[in-house]
Amino acid sequence: MDSPQIAPAPAGAAALVRDVKKRRTFAIISHPDAGKTTLTEKLLLFGGAIQMAGTVKAKKSGKFATSDWMAVEQERGISVASSVMQFSYDDCVFNLLDTPGHKDFSEDTYRVLTAVDAAIMVVDAAKGVEEQTIKLLEVCRMRNTPIITFINKMDREVREPLELLDEIESILKIHCAPVTWPIGMGKRFQGVYHLEREEILRFKAGEENAGQAFESLQGLGETKLRELFPLEADTLLGEIELVRGAGVGFSLEEFLAGKQTPVFFGSGINNFGVREVLAALADWAPSPLAREAVERVVEPTEPKFTGFVFKIQANMDPNHRDRIAFFRVCSGRYSPGMKVRHRRTGRDMKIANAVVFMANERARMDDAVAGDIIGIHNHGQLQIGDTLTEGENLQFKGIPYFAPELFSKPRLRDPLRAKQLNKGLLELGEEGAVQVFEPFADNVLLIGAVGPLQFEIVAHRLRTEYGVEATFENAGIYTARWVTCPDAAHLAEFTKTNSLKLGRDVDGNLVYLADTRVNLQMAQERWPKVAFHDTREHGQLLGQSA
Ligand code: G4P
Repeated sequence: MDSPQIAPAPAGAAALVRDVKKRRTFAIISHPDAGKTTLTEKLLLFGGAIQMAGTVKAKKSGKFATSDWMAVEQERGISVASSVMQFSYDDCVFNLLDTPGHKDFSEDTYRVLTAVDAAIMVVDAAKGVEEQTIKLLEVCRMRNTPIITFINKMDREVREPLELLDEIESILKIHCAPVTWPIGMGKRFQGVYHLEREEILRFKAGEENAGQAFESLQGLGETKLRELFPLEADTLLGEIELVRGAGVGFSLEEFLAGKQTPVFFGSGINNFGVREVLAALADWAPSPLAREAVERVVEPTEPKFTGFVFKIQANMDPNHRDRIAFFRVCSGRYSPGMKVRHRRTGRDMKIANAVVFMANERARMDDAVAGDIIGIHNHGQLQIGDTLTEGENLQFKGIPYFAPELFSKPRLRDPLRAKQLNKGLLELGEEGAVQVFEPFADNVLLIGAVGPLQFEIVAHRLRTEYGVEATFENAGIYTARWVTCPDAAHLAEFTKTNSLKLGRDVDGNLVYLADTRVNLQMAQERWPKVAFHDTREHGQLLGQSA
């Protein structure tokens, strides 16, 4: 096992400020197949975290795929789980948080996006803006996350660049500031013109390693351009004039406010354009931002350690059968063996062997500052949204649970396995793999999900991890709402009257389980003082009374 790339830094306030400034914590968002895995791999290649392309994903060769942790996702070739990879480039330390591409795991993706400070949006140049991209961008919008756009697959016959930018602007409602501009496409893809540096980066297909530099032709006049690209020059010059004429130069301020996205064209599979995206992340993306807690705002350079759990994952590695809590450091410095306060339980705990994730392995984490993600071994004590501090009572905000849209009840093949079933479901609920409810009127747990694939994953994990064969049948429930009321006596009356429709979630919150939309409406009309929430945040309730 390699040691972590990032050497421990000296203690002290100045060192902390210096190290925090270097951090860039980001995710890649895209519709499946746009090229997210390919780009991830190329970024890691440039960052020196992997030596060989094909390490992250080796679908064809049948090798184990690093970012695809679970057998189920390998079978399906989709990315179910999220993972974290750290690499360095150009004096910056990058934390790349992988997000599941499949829409059934959107809740998981949402939580991962709460832990990043920037995102790269990959768009397939042949397909343009696709459904999942729209949804993911909406999520980024909620926190005004700065977005860098990479328009991929220019080595194919794709759509016109102007048309693509138009589509991004009109559908995603974000201004585009092209930084590079493509010269030709498909077999005639010649490279890009860097609008800011007035430089041509020439494309060469099939470059497989990061060491090969691209030909860069600076200060070209029109005559030379026509000589070099006789077939493309007219279009290129016309388009450049149009883009320049539109006057949408890159504005750092607009980018940081999430209003404008710098756009890069390239071909991930050929390594082309990836370096420019990485440079944009290093130069423009924010270093770790201040985070809001219920009590106050926490600055990343504060000396005391704080952070929150945004994901829990089991079976990251078949050789380590454990659960890992993914924890984003928000301030201070992590050191092995440090003692922290677990805000939810009020207990102190020791973080002994936190891990950092490299491309295809994990290593012991020796030092971490704001923006870094550490993996904490967890035996059920940590839950999604939990805050850890060096003593202060803080609860970070912004880790949501959404009311599920699908509900089912497990049916056991062997009724004697009920205890194992319940244990498994409750643990999977704590992990956030599904939502688990305990209805008052029934001793069978109810499972809620956003997408049907989640049920399959749960069935698979129950079988492989808990030795329980279970199938899932429709529970006949339309939706769930978290219920609150400031008047305790009124809430008690509501609970008594509606006990057949009520239950609790894994955190003990009261939930109303409506079998139809009409039923929910009627309950809301009859109990106007009771609030019905469609989202809940860890540690507090929020959301619309919908
Ligand atoms: P995803 O994670 O967003 O789902 O996309 P992924 O990187 O797996 O890419 C989807 C497909 O697009 C892959 O082909 C990949 O090789 C291809 N691809 C990615 N970038 C480019 C590019 O710049 N140009 C071209 N022409 N293709 C690109 P596949 O056949 O589905 O998978 P594989 O067997 O090649 O891995």
